Amino acid sequence: MDVFVIEGGRRLDGSIRVLGAKNAALPLLAASLMSDEAVTLEDVPDLADIRSMVRLLEELGCAVLRDGASATIRTRDDAPWHARYDIVRTMRASICVLGPLLTKRGRARVSMPGGCTIGDRPVDLHLRGLRALGATIELDEGDIVATAPPGGLRGARIFLGGNFGSTVLGTINVMCAAVLARGRTIIEAAACEPEVVDVARLLTQMGAQVEGAGTPRLVIEGVERLGGARYTVMPDRIEAGTLMCAAAITNSLLTIENCPLDALLAFWDRLEEIGVRVEVLDERDPLRATVRVSADRVLRPVQVTTQPHPGFPTDLQAQLMALLCLAEGNSIVTEKIFGERFMHVPELARMGANLYRQGSTVVVSGVRQLRGAPVMASDLRASAGLVLAGLSARGTTIVNRVYHLDRGYERLDERLGRLGASIERVDEKDLERPATVAVVAARASRLASA
Ligand code: EPZ
Repeated sequence: MDVFVIEGGRRLDGSIRVLGAKNAALPLLAASLMSDEAVTLEDVPDLADIRSMVRLLEELGCAVLRDGASATIRTRDDAPWHARYDIVRTMRASICVLGPLLTKRGRARVSMPGGCTIGDRPVDLHLRGLRALGATIELDEGDIVATAPPGGLRGARIFLGGNFGSTVLGTINVMCAAVLARGRTIIEAAACEPEVVDVARLLTQMGAQVEGAGTPRLVIEGVERLGGARYTVMPDRIEAGTLMCAAAITNSLLTIENCPLDALLAFWDRLEEIGVRVEVLDERDPLRATVRVSADRVLRPVQVTTQPHPGFPTDLQAQLMALLCLAEGNSIVTEKIFGERFMHVPELARMGANLYRQGSTVVVSGVRQLRGAPVMASDLRASAGLVLAGLSARGTTIVNRVYHLDRGYERLDERLGRLGASIERVDEKDLERPATVAVVAARASRLASA
């Protein structure tokens, strides 16, 4: 297993381009299986989760041609309907083939995703929405088995609100299913996340009729078939936010291109409150802006509560917390989407952060400096928070299990390295040889004095 060895305290400098969004690319790939023609997606990031989705689509009878950052999906055989446990257990987002398979092929068997390190993650709202469209749903040996009625799904009024707000992938599943259903579907309390809008845009290009994407009310008129399309995945707002935190936590000046600023307003608002400057250099397209990020030496504490979009995104909570560890005073971070999503808290404490957690709230008392330490990544965004902490810490941080990070950030080590970070990917077996860390540290100090 790979680990990152990070020598902290180096300033970053230069320009970096945000890549395509994992959380848009996954459902866009899944939606492509509903088309009768080829669908080409551009700016598809090269990530472990994307590779799992491609493998799943291939098992489901699609040919997927990868060419650099583009992926062309064409259905060869529309008989398969089973998303097996072997794939689903490696990637929860496999659930987003459920709606497309059911509506296009009349039935779908998708292994029920289990919980994950960020908490219980039920799919009851997905199933409620599909049932409303007329599907019969049963659980068989751990699989969700969904069957459309004779003549196919039919439009309906559906309320998708739950105790924690709406559901992003649930909205996408029901929206996809409704696109090929007979008649009109109204989804009330739909998720407003930009990734839902991205999928709605692709579906529209394919010939679907979807109105209201980005608002809580979606109105969909079913169509008989979907055609081909060529579509560019939106830039990753979570990667962009992580890079902004990287600039701030290392007290650097970074230019970030292809930045979906318009999808990051709640995060931007908190950054400004903390004392991080975001200068907009080009926003002709507000979803692909160019910004320059810099931070004052003194960071101010803030209160932040994660919420469904357009609120502060849960996927940036760990990264912002890493930054708040260095603010002057007490910050309060409350997690309202995944109440247990605090795996980074004890690890940040190992680096000298002063954190007090009670339930789904953490009080962060800022310290002057973090200290390097071996830490364990346990989920994707927690890992990103630990990498950020390592970039700013004095000494060496070893982030274990970076395969979590690789699920959502493409070659983050190389890309941060190009900006001047000292971050090396090493096989954990080599770490047992003390020379490895010493060599990495010596290389870093040579670079620092160069
Ligand atoms: C998506 O997950 C993202 N994943 C997550 O990103 C993200 O954290 C999450 O949305 C929230 O923004 C992908 O897009 C692949 P939800 P999703 O259904 O759709 C509850 C990352 O780090 N809920 O919107 O699965 C649920 O427990 C990942 O990239 C129900 O109660 O999340 C949670 O509290 C992790 N019943 C809330 O709703 C349901 O049927 C929001 O979950 C579904 C969800």
